[in-house]
Amino acid sequence: MRKKIVAGNWKMNLTSVQSEDLVASLSEKLKNFDNEGKRVIVAPTFVNLVPVVTCEDRHAIVEVAAQNMHQAANGAFTGEIAANMLQTIGVPNVILGHSERRAYFGETDTLLAKKVEAALEHNMQVIFCFGEELEDRKSDKHFDVVGSQLKNALFQLPASAWKDIILAYEPVWAIGTGETASPEQAQEMHEFIRRTIAEAYSAEIADEVSILYGGSVKPANAKEIFSKPDVDGGLIGGASLKADDFFAIIDAM
Ligand code: PGA
Repeated sequence: MRKKIVAGNWKMNLTSVQSEDLVASLSEKLKNFDNEGKRVIVAPTFVNLVPVVTCEDRHAIVEVAAQNMHQAANGAFTGEIAANMLQTIGVPNVILGHSERRAYFGETDTLLAKKVEAALEHNMQVIFCFGEELEDRKSDKHFDVVGSQLKNALFQLPASAWKDIILAYEPVWAIGTGETASPEQAQEMHEFIRRTIAEAYSAEIADEVSILYGGSVKPANAKEIFSKPDVDGGLIGGASLKADDFFAIIDAM
């Protein structure tokens, strides 16, 4: 049975004290949360990973993810972070392919394929983000774009790797804009994603992979989006920075 997951992408926000405060407040709210079949993940900035991992008030169900990593094992890559550096400080999850990394840092599916492989080689789980831009949807190319993102970044993986992949479909036009895909648009795309994986691999693999929706998820719309059969939770940006809002979204899964 695939898991339901709500992950918070803190992006380039919060100092170390603020990061610890947020994880502590969230943990307090999660005290009586029944997490059977569910996962909660937060993704602080690189420098705030250790403070959050080691925060005494962090509830054990709050897992930690990095927002990015480099594809090489080590070397002359000034300013970059490698998978085993994350793994050895207690960070077993990494977000890869976020649309902001693609748009502002030139990350392509070819590069992301290498990053995914490097993460998996170090026994990390990957939250892989992808999604079409507004023009793609307007010109009715959204299924083609999403299909090729999957194929180019992930379909080189062996079937056995898929147990460590979480997908996050994030239509770029809905990220940070206040505009959400309708629950029907999300369901339609998630169903397409699952079918594409079933065709490339197997129905079992497609059925087991958690597919999160991301893009302006809020306490007010989370329940309806998460109620769709192929939507297994969400990747949350802005609303993950407030413990009350993020907890309300977690509670909606
Ligand atoms: P948002 O961001 O919830 O602020 O739209 C989502 C994301 O970027 O993952």
